[in-house]
Amino acid sequence: MARLVINETKKLSGIAPEIYGHFSEHLGRCIYEGMFVGEDSQIPNEKGMRKDVVEALKELNIPVLRWPGGCFADEYHWMDGIGKKEDRKKMINTHWGGVVEDNSFGTHEFMELCSQLGCKVYVNGNLGSGSVREMSEWVEYMTFEGVSPMADLRSKNGREKPWKVDYFAVGNENWGCGGNMLPAYYGNEYRRYQTYIRQFQKDHNILKIACGPNTDDYDWTDTVLKTCFEKVPKEQHGFMDLLSLHYYVVPGPWEDKGSATDYTEAEWYTTMSKAYYMEELVQRHSGIMDKYDPEKKIGLAVDEWGCWFNVEPGTNPGFLYQQSTVRDALVAALTLNIFNKHSDRVRMACVAQIVNVLQSVILTDGEKMLKTPTYDVFHMYRYHQGADLLESSVSGCDEVGPEGEKVPRITESVSEKDGIITVTVGNLSMTESENINLQLAEKKAYEIVEAKILESGDVHDHNTFENPDKVREKEFDGCRKTEEGFSFELPAASVITLRLK
Ligand code: AHR
Repeated sequence: MARLVINETKKLSGIAPEIYGHFSEHLGRCIYEGMFVGEDSQIPNEKGMRKDVVEALKELNIPVLRWPGGCFADEYHWMDGIGKKEDRKKMINTHWGGVVEDNSFGTHEFMELCSQLGCKVYVNGNLGSGSVREMSEWVEYMTFEGVSPMADLRSKNGREKPWKVDYFAVGNENWGCGGNMLPAYYGNEYRRYQTYIRQFQKDHNILKIACGPNTDDYDWTDTVLKTCFEKVPKEQHGFMDLLSLHYYVVPGPWEDKGSATDYTEAEWYTTMSKAYYMEELVQRHSGIMDKYDPEKKIGLAVDEWGCWFNVEPGTNPGFLYQQSTVRDALVAALTLNIFNKHSDRVRMACVAQIVNVLQSVILTDGEKMLKTPTYDVFHMYRYHQGADLLESSVSGCDEVGPEGEKVPRITESVSEKDGIITVTVGNLSMTESENINLQLAEKKAYEIVEAKILESGDVHDHNTFENPDKVREKEFDGCRKTEEGFSFELPAASVITLRLK
């Protein structure tokens, strides 16, 4: 029996709601069809945004949405996406599928989408192929109030009031698709570009995000920070508020990453152990950040994470469309628990990507829509947003997986908000259930106010347009009270949320 010990008297860091963020790129059917269908579409919409998708996403309390890329961001010229739709430039989306991008979804549409979702705005600027002037004018266009060329242009395009931009990133993956730069070069470019991201609004600052490493490129983190901190007063913390980190779970080689739905037990554990690697990445990058920023003023923004498998058979390889099974749900449960536990440094994370691309929470097919098992995990975990992380640990159970790919059998994190404790636990074993003895330090007479479980008969299960509710979170009634807390059996490959008062 595993012991899950919670010290509810020990509050650790606050869990930033933005850890539960999402990423949307002009890629495949993420924006077009997935979220934006245009006002003339037969699919019910509000100002062009799909009503079904927006409604479903609102139930997740989406805290922040990142746009327009990804690799697309460093090829995106924002002026192509404003003004009358019929006059907007058409271009080829060279990165993703070579399809025509008609720019009908641009800045105004993105702001409309964020306003419908009630989420914060994260715009990713173009450093790779754009100019300082272009980036600076975009910020002026979005946020300047008063008389200025860009504010006037915005008014001419139908929006007089400026918007609020919460986050602005200076480039994406500039070590790769964003310009193939070396870290010292990027660090200098970051210093230059960010200078012209002006804070025009007295009551609202834009938080600046510098491009961080790919996976375990610790040299990138170190060199970018060194360059940005050099000859800069300490209180400016390298001119940045966040540093990004991108990491995808790819079980096989790049040419054959593995099927999203058809996998062996060995592939299950490869996936879990690659997902668990996030723990080491966060710890080590954060350790390097501590050298420059011991007070943790700079947050780590894991603004691209998720599983990356082969595309669904018969779909455009450039569209990155994949299904999402119980395995993805466990990866999400594990990853979000890791982020919660490191919320002293991880202040934002965006799953890639929100609809129809990679580890999505929603899939669409024309007018049909379904929620994936990953959606349910985000739904079950939403109570952690803005809560205080509590000290917790698991002992008394073995690791699982073959030698070299061992992972903890049980993943957990615990938080408290408004007097309610939320416990999220996952069993990473594909085949074995585990008995859990949950012990609370104060041994108060806690009551369960909510208990939910996500499990399915077969670990390959997923939701299809024919059977959209095959894998769904359900009520969990397996908890028994004990003297120290509760005990329950956690089925193999399952996720549970308990809420205690
Ligand atoms: O999410 C898909 C792509 O993965 C993004 O465009 C890029 O930033 C990353 O390599």
